[in-house]
Amino acid sequence: METRILSVEKDGLEAVCRACTEVFLAGGLAAFPTETVYGLGADGLHGENSAKIYAAKGRPSDNPLILHIGARDQLYPLVTEVPESAEKLMDAFWPGPLTIIFKKADIVPETTSGGLSTIAVRMPSHPVANAILKACGIPIAAPSANLSGRPSTTRASHVIEDLTGRVDLIIDGGDVPIGVESTIIDLTQEIPVMLRPGYVTLEQLQSVLGEVIEDPAIRRESIIGHTNEVLHPKAPGMKYRHYAPKAPLTVFSGNEREVIEKILSLMDDETGILTVDEHFSEYPEARTVSVGSLKDPESIAHNLFDALRKFDEMQVTKILSEDLTDADIGDAIMNRLLKAAGGNYVILGGKKPES
Ligand code: TXA
Ligand code: MG
Repeated sequence: METRILSVEKDGLEAVCRACTEVFLAGGLAAFPTETVYGLGADGLHGENSAKIYAAKGRPSDNPLILHIGARDQLYPLVTEVPESAEKLMDAFWPGPLTIIFKKADIVPETTSGGLSTIAVRMPSHPVANAILKACGIPIAAPSANLSGRPSTTRASHVIEDLTGRVDLIIDGGDVPIGVESTIIDLTQEIPVMLRPGYVTLEQLQSVLGEVIEDPAIRRESIIGHTNEVLHPKAPGMKYRHYAPKAPLTVFSGNEREVIEKILSLMDDETGILTVDEHFSEYPEARTVSVGSLKDPESIAHNLFDALRKFDEMQVTKILSEDLTDADIGDAIMNRLLKAAGGNYVILGGKKPES
């Protein structure tokens, strides 16, 4: 398949919206930026169209897609019930990086919902995503625009690398602002459950709703040392090894000095090292990547997937990473890093992992 690439900067937003609308209405695939990561979109209301997403990504078809909408009134036909808790969350966080799970109406095909009777919906705040969704007027099913298993895409170059020849259209809208996927909350249970940590934190959800629990399978202790399969996460996508660079990745936690010494003792000249600005000078410059400053966790979220992809270009045989812990968005960052590591987490000096 020939893949057309359009740039918002060079071709203009109007041309981009027109091209995406044409592709979606013809049942094709177009990748576009959102505020979290790039998404790979298709018409979400026709199963034969959303099915093409699974093929393009090499994604298992039991892994449901998120429907993206450009305006709140598009939500109501997609679901059988909008609880008051959802109205409160939408007032607080939409448009923005929060995905809400509802009971699905019959017009949403099971191909889109991965066979589930529930459906995930999100209204992105990114001006390009929002303009495209408003222009085409249909709910767009869109997972992250990466090949299944690889790190999500936060720059147009990542999307071009993964999806050229597999999709009709790629929209270059520059680097995305946040860099980790949306927070997911399930409102179909008696008590709201956070299924995936993201930019909107558990505490923020609780401040709007009161009680919100976390799916136990996404907690750090659950991912460490597990393939995660035994814990049956409620978001089907959270069970797969994910975000993974090609070389095996191990994360070290403990006292700062100890972690640096350990990594230095284990590395050889084919080892990639993932660190932060504050520690960059401790390591040999070649094959060491800084993901951002400890003082600025948002920079770490922004750069994480790009950093993981850099190691593939360097062709290292193993990757050693420092723990990138921090509060708030730190949960989302460590969730992605530990998934990328397949649970390989080493705690030095008997330090317990924080949860
Ligand atoms: O930020 C984001 O959410 C990005 C951008 C493109 O919007 N999208 C994204 O989609 O991350 P994806 O497909 O890569 O991840 C969606 C996650 C998967 O783990 C999937 O299993 C879960 O959402 N999910 C979707 N529908 C669900 C449902 N009805 N019940 C439980 N989990 C669901
Ligand atoms: Mg994904």
